[in-house]
This record gives sequence, C-alpha cells and structure tokens, in this order.
Amino acid sequence: MKQINFKKYNIIILTLWTLTIAFAVYRSVLESNQQFEKNIKIVARISYQKDILYRKWVSTHGGVYVTINKDSRPNPYLSFIKNRDIVTTNGDSLTLINPAYMTRQIYELGKDDYGAMGHLSSLKPINPFNAPDHNEKQALLRFEKGDTLFVNNDTIKGIPYFVYVRPFMTESSCLKCHAQQGYKIGDVRGALFTAVPTSEFLKIKNHDIKSSLMTFLFVWVIGVSVILFVMYNLQKQIKARNIAEETIIQTNKELHQLNVDKDRFISILGHDLRSPFTALIGLSEFLKENLQKFSINETNKIADDINIAAQNTFNLLEDILLWARTQQGKIPFNPRNLDLTEISNNVIDILKPSALAKNITISYSIAGNLTVFADIDMLKTVLRNLVSNAIKFTHNGGTINIGAGQTDSFTTISVSDDGVGISQENMAKIFDVSQVPTTIGTERETGTGLGLLLCKDFVEKHGGKIRVESEAGKGSNFSFTLPSPI
Ligand code: HEC
Repeated sequence: MKQINFKKYNIIILTLWTLTIAFAVYRSVLESNQQFEKNIKIVARISYQKDILYRKWVSTHGGVYVTINKDSRPNPYLSFIKNRDIVTTNGDSLTLINPAYMTRQIYELGKDDYGAMGHLSSLKPINPFNAPDHNEKQALLRFEKGDTLFVNNDTIKGIPYFVYVRPFMTESSCLKCHAQQGYKIGDVRGALFTAVPTSEFLKIKNHDIKSSLMTFLFVWVIGVSVILFVMYNLQKQIKARNIAEETIIQTNKELHQLNVDKDRFISILGHDLRSPFTALIGLSEFLKENLQKFSINETNKIADDINIAAQNTFNLLEDILLWARTQQGKIPFNPRNLDLTEISNNVIDILKPSALAKNITISYSIAGNLTVFADIDMLKTVLRNLVSNAIKFTHNGGTINIGAGQTDSFTTISVSDDGVGISQENMAKIFDVSQVPTTIGTERETGTGLGLLLCKDFVEKHGGKIRVESEAGKGSNFSFTLPSPI
C-alpha cells in the first residue's frame, strides 16, 4: 500500500510558512528603517531651514547691533568695518554681530538644553574655530564638485546623531563682509551642519520593530497550529482509509481461501468418497450373491475385506469432517501429559486388521515410558494417519516402525516404512492444501492426502514441526516434534 511521507510534507509546508513570515519580517524591518531615515531627515531639514532663515534675516540687515556684554564681545574679524562699535545717543555701547557669530552663539546657548545642534564651517575659514573636521571636509569637498546634500550618521561625544548638511552659497547680502576674501555670488562659502540626536527616533523605530515582530510571531504561531491541525487530521483520515482498505483486502483473501477450501471439500466428497463406497457395495453384493456357495473360510475372508473397506471409508470420512472443522477453528485444543506407549498401542490396535490383511508387521521401538505434552485427540489423529498411510504404501509383507526420541525441550516421533516411497514431485505437494495429490495405495487403496494436512495443522498447533524423508522405491520416514512434558 502506498504510504505518504507526512513528516516530509509537514517539514516542507512549515518551512515554506516560516520563510514567508521571515520574508515579511525582513520587509517590515526594512520599512521601519526607511521610515526612521525619512522622519529624521524631515526633522533635520526643518531645523536647518529655520537656522538658515534667521541667518538670512541677519545677513540681509548686514548684521545686527547688540549691547556689548561678556558673551557678545566686538568680533575681531569685523575690525575692517568702520562702524563695528557704536554708542547710542543715551550712551549705550553696541557692537555689530555677523550671522556666523550669531549662529555660533545660538548653538552655544542651546547646547546644554538640546545637545549639539550644528556647526558652521568652511574650507577657507576666517575664524579657525570654523575649520572643518574630517567628515565636514569630505562634505565640503563634495559641495565644491556640485553636490547639494550630505547626510551622515555620526556619534558626537558618545551620543548618536543624524547630520544634515547643505552648501552655503554666497549671495549679494554676504558680499558686504566676504567680498574681500574674493567670494563672488554663487560660490560655495561653506556649509551649515545640522545635527539631530537620533535616540528618540531610534526608540520609536525599535518599538515599531518590536511590535511588528510580536504580530508576526503571533501570526506564525497561528499558522503553524493551523497547518499542524490540518495535517494531523488529514493524516488521521488517510490512515483510517488505509486501514479500511487493508481490511477489505484481508477479508477478500480470507473469502477467497474459504472458497478454495469449500471447492476442495466438495470435490473430495464427490470424488474420493465414491470409490471406497463402490468397493464396499461391490464386496457386500459379491458376498450376498455367493453366500450359499462360499465356504465359511471364504465368507470370513470377504467379511474381513468388507470390514477393512468400511474402516478405511470411516477413517476417510472422519478425516474430512475433522479437517472441515479445523478450517472453521472449531477443534478444541487441550494439551496435557500423555503416555506415548499407551496412545501408540491404541492406534496400532485400530489399524491392525488393515496391516494383517497385507501381512505388514508394525514394530514399536520406544524406550521406557515416554511422556509427551499434547492434545490426546490430535495426537491420535496424527499417529493414525501416519500409520495408515504407511500401511497403504507398503507392499505385502513389509514392515513399519514407530520410534521416538526425547530431549529436554521436545520429543521427536517417527513413523517409517519400507514401502513405495514418494516421488520428488509429490514431496513438494504433500503439505500444500491447494495441490494435495490424490493417491492410490499398493492394493489400490484410495485416499485424499487430507490426512497429512491435518497432521501438519495439528503438529503446528502444538508448536511442533512435521517433515518427511523419502526415496522412491525404498520407503518413507515421517517425523514430527511435540513439546516435552511439563
Ligand atoms: C556683517 C558681516 C557679515 C555678513 C553680512 C556675512 N558674514 Fe559670514 N562671516 C563674517 C565674519 C566676520 C566671519 C568670521 C568670524 C566668525 O566666525 O564670526 C564669518 C564667517 C562665515 C562663515 C564661517 C567660515 C569662516 O570663514 O569662518 C561662513 C560659512 C559665512 N560667514 C557665510 C556667510 C554667508 C553665506 C553670508 C551671506 C548669506 C554671510 N556669511 C554674511 C561676517 C559676515
């Protein structure tokens, strides 16, 4: 019967499902990362734009004047402007603040509360404080080549930042102070680096990823449960169907065997019982017709023949009925310790007339009082069949020997004769129900071979074995084993 490898299918389907979920997880993590970049970029751009706007405002006014104090000292780099420091009509001292100075001050102001916010730098800084670090230099060099945006994830003093940079172009309002360095409108004056701390965005991203992982895990578990449930039920159904199919096949086999047995039974009844009865009827008619003429000796001889024929016929009938009952499993099996000598003598007594009629000697060579563990009816049937077979196939004046040997675990009993033996061809068929050969004895005795089948069934029922050795023309030796007594 075709067996489906469920384990393999389970593994394949579960793997496919797991791969699908794994792919979805991968996509979702990727999306969270993209969303994180997008969000932080927007925030950085807004922050950058605001810085630029304030600077622009200051720049368009050519700088703004503020009261001089310790944070807002006059800028030495503005010394070339003659009105850098002025005094108001009521005597307050003011100084000019350029956009870069303001930006720096604002970043300084916000540093403590908001962390690093940005840095203004240039490849040709007026103020060495505005010199670019390594990363800034890379960005500035790229802007010189025409790039307009540079983003970078960086760590400033151990804190992760997202850095957003755009080039700072020279406009007309810048020229008031930067024309003297040779800048023209459209030149890259420098760049404004806007830094946004990423920790908050990272937190949101990680939370997103975690919750979608939980969702996927949940979906995965549900999927696995559904798959296992469906597969389990499918497997159960298929198993049940297989069992049903097997039962049908088995039943069919049994029915077929029953049919074969029945046919055999009918053919035995029809064919094999006919001839012994014909012999019986013939003999008895012969006796009836000649009763007046026959001497007492002649009458005796024919009566003996009739008796033997009747005995054989009865034995045959008994075998057939017994066999039929064995096939139906109706034979009781009650093994117990039995005296083998007693059983053998019993069987020999019954068969003596047949043996005498052919001048056959039955010798019995069993040492001591051998005991076997067997069912009495079965053992008698086996012995009777083997001995009557031997009589049947032994010539006038032959000998039959019953022997036995015992070991601790089993007893071997043998029935041998010096009769016609069995051909190689028939040896193969002898214990096969489908081809038991019909046999004719040395004195044209008939039989079915059913007896041997019975012997085999009964011996095997005891856990023993039956076997035959024979050579055509020299005789046969049937032996079987039985358990030793307990
Ligand atoms: C009122 C004068 C003034 C104006 C207007 C002005 N700047 Fe400046 N800028 C300065 C001075 C002075 C410095 C250098 C000292 C400092 O850091 O304060 C500077 C520094 C800078 C720096 C930093 C690099 C460096 O050289 O130290 C950049 C970049 C810059 N300016 C760009 C601009 C741009 C672009 C404009 C026009 C939108 C502009 N500035 C308008 C005076 C000015």
